[in-house]
Amino acid sequence: MTPLMPTLSGVRALYEAYPYPCYPLLATPRWQDGYLTHSRFAACVAGGGAAFGSADGSNRVLIGGGGEILPYIIRKWEPRGQAVISIDLSRHSTRRARWRTLFSSKSTRFLRGDLDAYLQREPPGLFAHIDAYGVLHHMPNPSHTLALMAKALAPGGTLRVMVYNSPARTWIHHVQRLLGSSLVGIDRFSAADLRLAREILGAAAKEAPALAVRLNQLGAGTMPNDGRFADTFLHPREARLGIRHWLEAIRAAGLEVAGLFDRYCELDDLENPLSIVPSIEALEQRAADGRYENNLELFIRRPRVGEVSEVVRSRQCKLAGTQTWVYRLKPPPSLWFSYDETRQISWGDRQALWQAHLDWVLCGEARRTTPLLPRLAKLSLQRLLRLGAILPGQIVDTGLRRALAAPMTAMMEAPVLPAAVELRGGPCEGLIRSVLVARGRGEERVLRQAMARLNASQLDGGRWGQSLALTH
Ligand SMILES: C[S@@+](CC[C@H](N)C(=O)[O-])C[C@H]1O[C@@H](n2cnc3c(N)ncnc32)[C@H](O)[C@@H]1O
Repeated sequence: MTPLMPTLSGVRALYEAYPYPCYPLLATPRWQDGYLTHSRFAACVAGGGAAFGSADGSNRVLIGGGGEILPYIIRKWEPRGQAVISIDLSRHSTRRARWRTLFSSKSTRFLRGDLDAYLQREPPGLFAHIDAYGVLHHMPNPSHTLALMAKALAPGGTLRVMVYNSPARTWIHHVQRLLGSSLVGIDRFSAADLRLAREILGAAAKEAPALAVRLNQLGAGTMPNDGRFADTFLHPREARLGIRHWLEAIRAAGLEVAGLFDRYCELDDLENPLSIVPSIEALEQRAADGRYENNLELFIRRPRVGEVSEVVRSRQCKLAGTQTWVYRLKPPPSLWFSYDETRQISWGDRQALWQAHLDWVLCGEARRTTPLLPRLAKLSLQRLLRLGAILPGQIVDTGLRRALAAPMTAMMEAPVLPAAVELRGGPCEGLIRSVLVARGRGEERVLRQAMARLNASQLDGGRWGQSLALTH
């Protein structure tokens, strides 16, 4: 086997040690919650239809860097006729992913290797859909991988990508530097070192409320979980690319962004971003002042000459009733009803929404959507459209469709976070000093650099920095 370049071998070692996201092997995930992951949903957002066996003849789906659970979820969603291929650098992740699909009557082809090398080997236009969620920013040259994916897609094919929103991660970058080899030198593969890293951050959070808020925002799943913790703070490769860079690289690869998924409702002052993509400037402004912190979750298409009409699309995608009962017996995705505007929707209407969604994404039929619309409040409908629970094509009345794509609010306020405080002379500094001394790096200069990183991690790109003058 050809040796991997250093970036790849570091990334592979991380995911061999910590398959992502590392749920228990016997857990049975609610796969319907993964309604955004499959080719039919992407085709509905992109309005293409290649994923349903297009005129271009492709019906293959590629999961690039699928980790250990996504292949299971995507395989559940993709119908039998759809060939699913999953490639991942990590043998451990691949084994776990294969195990999860072992009892499925639909087959999945698992490959272990580098996504770039695989795409380079395969003939162009092979895939109707590619999923690369949380992978591109770990690749050695993300723009090159994007170009390879564009070449691998059939015309009209789709791509789902999640990449980091780097400005929102400035604080994480400072913590990465603090824990990295030039300062504290945490060994990402040592359980004792991971405990120590958590102890340092815990001590810092006690003194610095801004950092405490940040760590809290990561969610309960990240701090105690070794794999998630290492993925966030100790990753050997994270491309720090801005929003403009990503969107321009997508365009340069000959691809078009068709929709942006706004998971945390940060873009409610813009038109529905899942169907009307915000400008680079609008996203940059909101990322700069903290209004937009989510990662970029993008649905992308490879344009084809001559769009496929809705009628052709619905003919292409029709599944027989017998093929859809497995989906229909499941309850709807829980995400849809976890927002203020949707929480009050009745049980009956939730089921009706789910059936109407499945009608559209699996069979291309909007019949059951029309009677449901007058029963729901405008804001509920707007939220459901932004979540992709209802897709624009389901709304036959074009005036209503346009009205529901409108902004949900006039403006969004930037979040107000606790003021930064200078960490100096307290228990956190004491802990870091003792760690550095124990590691033979006790010089004052190193301690100052370490503390400067922690202090800067509260500033978040200068946004909250008004109250703290860094002295280092
Ligand atoms: C953060 S995980 C995301 C996993 C999955 N996409 C998800 O959303 O749950 C990144 C995955 O990409 C894989 N990966 C990273 N670089 C890769 C490469 N060059 N080729 C193939 N897979 C890669 C890793 O092994 C890991 O499983």
